[in-house]
Amino acid sequence: MKRKAPASLAARVKRLASHQPPSWATIGRDARPNLHGLLRYPAMMIPSMQGDILDVVLAEIDGPCRVTDPFVGSGTVMTEALIRGLDFVGIDINPLAAMVCEAKIAVDARADVEHGVEVVLHHLARDIEMTIDVDFAGRAKWFSQESAIYFSKIRRAIMRVEDVGTRKVLWVAFADTIRRCSNSRTSTYKLHVRPDAEMVDVSRIRKVFFLTLREALQRTRDYQQILAQSRRKTPKARIICGDIRTAKIPTSRTRHQILVTSPPYGDNVTTIPYGQFSFLALNWIDPKDLPGGVDDKLLANTHALDAASLGGSVLDAQEKHAEMMEVSPTYKRFSRQAKRDNRDVRKVSCFMYDYWESLHRINSKALGSAHWVMTTGNRNAAGLKVPFDAINRDIVEALGGRCVTSIQRKLPVKRMPNRNSIGELINAETTLVAEFA
Ligand SMILES: C[S@@+](CC[C@H](N)C(=O)[O-])C[C@H]1O[C@@H](n2cnc3c(N)ncnc32)[C@H](O)[C@@H]1O
Repeated sequence: MKRKAPASLAARVKRLASHQPPSWATIGRDARPNLHGLLRYPAMMIPSMQGDILDVVLAEIDGPCRVTDPFVGSGTVMTEALIRGLDFVGIDINPLAAMVCEAKIAVDARADVEHGVEVVLHHLARDIEMTIDVDFAGRAKWFSQESAIYFSKIRRAIMRVEDVGTRKVLWVAFADTIRRCSNSRTSTYKLHVRPDAEMVDVSRIRKVFFLTLREALQRTRDYQQILAQSRRKTPKARIICGDIRTAKIPTSRTRHQILVTSPPYGDNVTTIPYGQFSFLALNWIDPKDLPGGVDDKLLANTHALDAASLGGSVLDAQEKHAEMMEVSPTYKRFSRQAKRDNRDVRKVSCFMYDYWESLHRINSKALGSAHWVMTTGNRNAAGLKVPFDAINRDIVEALGGRCVTSIQRKLPVKRMPNRNSIGELINAETTLVAEFA
């Protein structure tokens, strides 16, 4: 595989960093066009920024390549890769995230969402059943009797759609409606009961679902139009729902690997509770349409998925800390300032160790040359700024990577609802570009 001189990559990334396009600072609806806005997942990346960086890296590579995102979330990198006709592999422990990505892949494969919406509206209008079709711990707390009956009708209507890919797109609209209309507040990703005055009635649920379907349809059309205009080759895409530390990651000897990702900032409990965010929808979606191999234990209670994610366990904290002291000089400096008996500091140690273990595993599966593009944010813990950007750099170097350069970006707005504790604390992010020979 022929490669151009490494210096040119550094120069190109630096140029991009010093002339950041206005689209990187766009907020709201316009920032997430086409499939990017299908579901409002927490801490989504800026699509145009990841696309621009991907283009710079691609300009360095002659020959076939594959893009991988080991923390794929709602698939921002995936969508940018697919638009460019690049093969893609994504991994996420959260079944909702994996299913959203599979829904987007179905749209990429030309799923007939318009027909799916017609089928749903047809059956919904004729359904006179008054049953509640799902039960799980806390269902009555998060859904009134009337709303559970109506959500059951929507669920039955979606189950009447024949094509599984189309159903996944409809489940995403359903998940978004659940998120906005359950008895849990939308001002936080954590589950918190709304005050009585803010409870959502059935007529509003109906309105929200119909609007969400209409929007999904428009986004699907916008995406398929982009493909019709710009794509020459249909890529292969695969999503694996599982823990990156144990999931079966497909390897490829022949192709250059481009890893583009934004890992979590820390453990889900003290940063972003992706599991709690997804819990209600995951209990309503027909389990046979969730990605294969979902462990029931992950849905057993509102905390199980967050506890299974990176940094979710503080077991063996001392051993994990000791290993990180060897791996990362920056971690060592941070640790000397921090009080080791503080629980949040132990959580940082365990998160960093889990993250190191994840990257170590990915690296051991990557055969041949690679570029890594990693966006991280520095959160606060126990009154200290956690220098995740520099620890990430140390980890990449410990794995044999060469850090080419990095981009700093100020976040235009808080990326998470204000009731999450780190909301006000992360106001910048760093994107590291590295290469492995
Ligand atoms: C910052 S989010 C990714 C967001 C994504 N870049 C986007 O634009 O939607 C980090 C993701 O890491 C996932 N994650 C956490 N622990 C994991 C693990 N052990 N294995 C795989 N994924 C994990 C979370 O479920 C979450 O979706």
